[in-house]
Amino acid sequence: MAQHTSEEIFQQKVDNEIKIEAREWMPDEYRKTLIRQISQHAHSEVVGMLPEGNWITRAPNLRRKLILIAKVQDEAGHGLYLYSAAETLGITRDEMYEQLHTGKAKYSSIFNYPTLTWADIGAIGWLVDGAAIMNQVMLCRTSYGPYARAMVRICKEESFHQRQGYESLLALSKGSDEQRAMLQDAVNRWWWPSIMMFGPSDAESTNSEKSMLWKIKRQSNDDLRQRFVDATVDQARILGVTLPDPDLKWNEERGHYDFGVINWDEFWNVVKGNGPCNKQRMNARVKAWNEGAWVREAAMVFADKRRQKVA
Ligand code: 3HC
Repeated sequence: MAQHTSEEIFQQKVDNEIKIEAREWMPDEYRKTLIRQISQHAHSEVVGMLPEGNWITRAPNLRRKLILIAKVQDEAGHGLYLYSAAETLGITRDEMYEQLHTGKAKYSSIFNYPTLTWADIGAIGWLVDGAAIMNQVMLCRTSYGPYARAMVRICKEESFHQRQGYESLLALSKGSDEQRAMLQDAVNRWWWPSIMMFGPSDAESTNSEKSMLWKIKRQSNDDLRQRFVDATVDQARILGVTLPDPDLKWNEERGHYDFGVINWDEFWNVVKGNGPCNKQRMNARVKAWNEGAWVREAAMVFADKRRQKVA
């Protein structure tokens, strides 16, 4: 009988849709790719709290405030599930935080844009969470078990976030002229950055080939981007807003919407740390980390005391 190498057994499992679990053999590159993607994802959830948290004190009424607080808490929870999933691969949480705080780790480009008006909060829910969920549904079936399982709950919550964002924009669309103008302005600013969130074009995506082979990713950046555009155009029509792209039109032959050229210089500039709010976001995270030192210390002392009592 032919002997199979560890790599072949691993790939067979992936091909047969058997989840890879934490203690099983896996190629080093698979482990590294997962740590990179899951930790970037966790950082995005955590940094993503900042632009929204910024509006908790200014939400227009109690109902909106309660919803926003709950949403921001959900994002914190997503960060924790994802950090836990990454830890199963042999990296510590402190190492991941260190990578974030020193600028070594990436997080989603989208959270480096400012939230200037209340309509931005709705636009984040509709467009940013909408784009996030388009990408993340496939991750519920990703090949690594702990990541796939974390994603099930995250997706349920993200889909609620998308709907609440859309509902709050729908309210603005039925409001005064000023409210409608504020809505249009938010859509004008968030549309292109949301399209960019899916990452570089397939031709430029350095990780996709391996990630697709290993079923970490199941759909390409461009395919997901196209699905998002196709799904969003009708929703924009119902809101009565214009998407800021003169080249956006239905292509009968392709059965998809065509859209304009993405400003990749802007995307890479933001990814490299030069977006409108990169520095502000990182300063806020580092400040929260430093000021939270006493909480971590107290928690460690408490845990030690409990351990001694049990022993
Ligand atoms: N922002 C910042 N960096 C990005 C990016 C983005 N929007 N899109 C791609 N990149 C980076 C990649 O990380 C990679 O850099 P690296 O090799 O140094 O890590 C480089 O650009 C090339 O891109 P690839 O297409 O080769 O990278 P991936 O194969 O990893 O695909 C991805 C990128 C589709 C974002 C994939 O990593 C992914 O699906 N990640 C999980 C989901 C995720 O992290 N979403 C972020 C948003 S989460 C969120 O929005 C929270 C919610 O509450 C709204």
